[in-house]
Amino acid sequence: MKRIFQEFFLILALLIPVFFSSAGHGKANTETFRLGSAAVVSANAMATRAGMAVLKEGGNAIDAAIAVQMVLAVSEPQSSGIGGGCFLVYYDKKSNKVIAFDGREAAPKTIPTDVFLDPQGQAIPFYPERITGGRSVGVPGCVKVLYKAWKNYGSGKIPWDRFFKEGISLAENGFPISGRLAEAIQGERARLNLFPASRQIFLDSRGESKKQGDILIQKDLAATLRALAAGGPPVFYEGDIARDMVQAVREAPVAPGFLSLEDLKKYRAVSRRPVSGVYRGLKIYSMPPPSSGGTTLIETLNMLELFPVDRMERNSPEFVHLFSEAQKLAFADRNRYLGDSDYGLLPVKALISKPLAAERVKAINPEQAIQGKADPVVPVTLGNTSTSHISIVDAAGNALAMTTTIEHIFGSAMVVPRRGFVLNNELTDFDAEPSLDADKKIPAPNRVQGGKRPLSSMTPTLIFKDGSPYASLGSPGGTQIIGTVLNLVVNLVDFKMNAEQAMKAPRIINRNGPLEMERDWFADNVLINGLKAMGHEIVMREPFGNAQLVLFRDPKTNQLSAASDPRGEGTALIDTGGPE
Ligand code: GLY
Repeated sequence: MKRIFQEFFLILALLIPVFFSSAGHGKANTETFRLGSAAVVSANAMATRAGMAVLKEGGNAIDAAIAVQMVLAVSEPQSSGIGGGCFLVYYDKKSNKVIAFDGREAAPKTIPTDVFLDPQGQAIPFYPERITGGRSVGVPGCVKVLYKAWKNYGSGKIPWDRFFKEGISLAENGFPISGRLAEAIQGERARLNLFPASRQIFLDSRGESKKQGDILIQKDLAATLRALAAGGPPVFYEGDIARDMVQAVREAPVAPGFLSLEDLKKYRAVSRRPVSGVYRGLKIYSMPPPSSGGTTLIETLNMLELFPVDRMERNSPEFVHLFSEAQKLAFADRNRYLGDSDYGLLPVKALISKPLAAERVKAINPEQAIQGKADPVVPVTLGNTSTSHISIVDAAGNALAMTTTIEHIFGSAMVVPRRGFVLNNELTDFDAEPSLDADKKIPAPNRVQGGKRPLSSMTPTLIFKDGSPYASLGSPGGTQIIGTVLNLVVNLVDFKMNAEQAMKAPRIINRNGPLEMERDWFADNVLINGLKAMGHEIVMREPFGNAQLVLFRDPKTNQLSAASDPRGEGTALIDTGGPE
């Protein structure tokens, strides 16, 4: 039976859970959603549409995510793409399993541990030096991990080459540059200008930034996508495209790097067990190492669970203080203990345990902020604005949360000559300093090592209520990602907000430094003064994050809802799955 999809689409934002009518009958706003409804939400309207088109053709959430990514690679080249890496957390309804896919970039085998130190042993300044050029480029994982996810969990109904249709067409024919992309080009103009292939795409003939509304055509990228569609990963990881990547990195005019053909050929996408926890009865699944996202999110939630957050006002000094201190403590542990779990035992089990949270909250004084940095915990046992997020649920009830990145805005700033795609600077997610103390006695778990994956903060997350999927969410934002996802979880669970409200509410984070609050909070003098009186150093932040969120149908209201962050330019589409 042919299905009629009714799409509800809002630029820059919010999808309010409005009731939809089926075609030709019923009144808008009165008819309930049907079983089989689905949603796609991403940071870009064209990408969201491509994902929904694949669902309409019978694809599932994995299939749709690949199509979304291939459009993002073209329409949001500053944030993610085939030259980068990504993580997926996927719920497969049939097997009732949640799987984490790791497509994180890996360090080239021959990279030295002190690659980001200058000759005096000091860390090379992060911007622009550390991130720009070949040195920071890790082996891209995006293509291999999407292929692996498709092979294992795709619907089997949609051929690989179908996923490239919209991306190829956009790259070939062009599209008007969005406000966000124009801003990114302008902001990174000096870096892009260093590399002829980057300059040619993003700057005009006078070397000026292309502007909002200019048509961006990417013929080389279209050809690369076409080749990938036809040949799959081997075309990218071996052969001419691989050779061009290696040449671009090793012969970069700025900071030549270490990537080799062997690194590309040997790259493995990995399925991992997601990290999981329970927050007020809801089961949380998120990304394990090499991301710190899931572990730090769950450790923070475990601490918050010990307090009656739902009885606090979200704008009270009491709540903001608690919320900030819990994040601060969890971040101290993140920075001390986490890295790539394939390169050493990490105390993940201990960090996400309830007893550790009970111990950790003793460091929270209800009246006084921790000054400066918090010390990390000593774990009891050893257990084993760039970036973009996509959330999808399909008609079969599968759910996907995927965060994808090239690290910084425009990554290394290098487009691969003749191939049209931007290479990541993911290796700058490693610690520049190989040790955590002046005596060099504590090796940094996140130090640079050949073959290793740098620690991420990406936190693609699925939440389950009573055994069924309840939410799919995530965000870009580097180390702000964890706090952004945490804000959403607490807004939904403790403050009982709907998707739109949870997304819109101004955010509060702490990354084991000052308390960072979005600008909107500062209108509230009582709150700000109350926090200052507790000793908080407060930093006013412009809006951060670009989160995407789908909430499954609420069994009580029978509503499916989704929201794209009003801080970005994404969209959400909901399909009611109704009959003809
Ligand atoms: N590069 C952003 C992250 O992985 O956290």
